[in-house]
Amino acid sequence: MSKGSQNIVDGKLHPSGDKRFRVLEATMKRHQYQPNALIEVLHKTQELFGYLEQDVLLHIAHSLKLPPSQVYGVVTFYHFFSLKPAGIHTCVVCMGTACFVKEAASLLTAVEQVAHIQAGETTRDGRLSLSTARCLGACGSAPAVVLDGHVVGDQTPETLRNQVKPMMDQPQYETAI
Ligand code: FES
Repeated sequence: MSKGSQNIVDGKLHPSGDKRFRVLEATMKRHQYQPNALIEVLHKTQELFGYLEQDVLLHIAHSLKLPPSQVYGVVTFYHFFSLKPAGIHTCVVCMGTACFVKEAASLLTAVEQVAHIQAGETTRDGRLSLSTARCLGACGSAPAVVLDGHVVGDQTPETLRNQVKPMMDQPQYETAI
């Protein structure tokens, strides 16, 4: 079972789960779970998770009462949707208001300098993909980032640099987050 499905129980959020699912749920709710909100929901999902994981797509299909085949059809039709992370490792820096006022821009700059890429890019060796999000649902621990699917809060340029550097050197990212 993947991380995504562990966080979804009968279409609801698992209490111990990733707060990004709460944001996803709020997005679908705001659109009253209307099927025609699919593209907007997919955009938000990719922003939150960096790509569109299968379990999450099934959850969206279920919530919007759409056949999974239709959801996959849309995802594969548009080039800006991705079914897997572009890089071996992913770093999503939240630029939402709560994080922005706590200097999220300096976090982004720190990663850009370490990896020599801009947000939206992947390193040439495919080690790291860097992107930004508008809110990860973790405002209480702003500024927050997502490293390989783990939301980590209260970051500084230094703490983030120290976590991203090993990603650039090792095939597997292993830390105690
Ligand atoms: S604004 Fe960054 S987690 Fe909400």
